[in-house]
Amino acid sequence: MRPDPVEPASRLPAGQQPGCPLTALAPMQDVTDLAFMSVISHYGAPDYFFTEFFRVHAQSHPEKHILRSIDENATGRPVFAQLIGEDLTHLTRTATELLRHPVAGIDLNLGCPAPKVYKKNVGGGLLREPAKIDEILGALRAAVPGLFTVKMRIGFDDTVNFDRILELVNAHRVDLLTIHGRTVKEMYRSEVHYDAIARAVTRVRCPVLANGNVLSAPRAAAILGETKAAGVMIGRHAIRNPWIFRQCREQFEGRPVMRVTLADVREYIERLYRATTLPGLPDRLHVNKMKKYLNFVGQSVDATGAFLHDMRRTESEAALFEVCDRHLLAEPTREFAPEPYPGVIARPNCETPSVLTDGCSLETITA
Ligand SMILES: Cc1cc2nc3c(=O)[nH]c(=O)nc-3n(C[C@H](O)[C@H](O)[C@H](O)COP(=O)(O)O)c2cc1C
Repeated sequence: MRPDPVEPASRLPAGQQPGCPLTALAPMQDVTDLAFMSVISHYGAPDYFFTEFFRVHAQSHPEKHILRSIDENATGRPVFAQLIGEDLTHLTRTATELLRHPVAGIDLNLGCPAPKVYKKNVGGGLLREPAKIDEILGALRAAVPGLFTVKMRIGFDDTVNFDRILELVNAHRVDLLTIHGRTVKEMYRSEVHYDAIARAVTRVRCPVLANGNVLSAPRAAAILGETKAAGVMIGRHAIRNPWIFRQCREQFEGRPVMRVTLADVREYIERLYRATTLPGLPDRLHVNKMKKYLNFVGQSVDATGAFLHDMRRTESEAALFEVCDRHLLAEPTREFAPEPYPGVIARPNCETPSVLTDGCSLETITA
């Protein structure tokens, strides 16, 4: 049973379709910048955006490139600014600084699983210390008169602290809780524990967004049915398929869900390439940057991974688009699979470091 009284969800910005479950683009370091948010909104914006995390420590100032995703955001949708840190003074200082920008609210990261992050006792590392979370939520709640939101995993290496943290979410009147249904130790590839998300929905007073492996619009509907969450947050599968938020809305309203073709995907890649160009960025580095997104896109192009194989070997813009044309325009009306083909893994380039050594970045996260 939901606790009583239920706080009204009306403090949150309205979604695009009143009465429909909410959708949000997951915060993703090195991905959810201004350019990516603009591209996503071209294909159908989510109800909410979240920034990449602002790192908070004694010397930190909000990173300029992340501020651009707030200040110059022309999508028309609310943007929540995410913080990662553990020092109360500097977290509240940073929240106050960010509130001078057009943010929808302040979000706290309690989930980043990278060892170099959690060893500093921030992000997912904090899930081991509910007493510290209590202090941080108290300080940020006091500093943020508007919306204060939390994004968490279900625990560090087990879920012993889960219920206690949910109590703290209620005690500090958090406005929106996103739950990635894995522990920190489960990283990104285990099963997602939707039962834990469902449990949180019955325990917290605020709306909950369900996160983790929301692969497609039908999966989103199934996850919402199972968890009774207020909405879904989608990360990697929005890189793969930027139409997913539009498709979710169609699914939720019982309308026909848009079928994406390989020609549509060719157009998306071109748009993403143009949007992510930086002055002076050499062709080869830009192509390498594109490969990080295309690792996800390639999961739905063909069942054998042939596009991924050829794409990963390109070293120039011309070669990259030759591969795209060959794989995507030979049968332009063929369907881009709504979910990844089984066994087609979005592994990073072989020259990138081990998943155990780095942070929440496209260099290291696979699906
Ligand atoms: C490349 C990448 C970067 C990420 N960076 C962040 C981040 O800055 N803050 C955060 O809370 N989660 C971050 N995450 C986690 C995602 O927000 C999300 O919780 C996770 O990917 C599971 O959702 P998905 O299955 O829809 O991708 C990142 C994930 C990826 C793949």
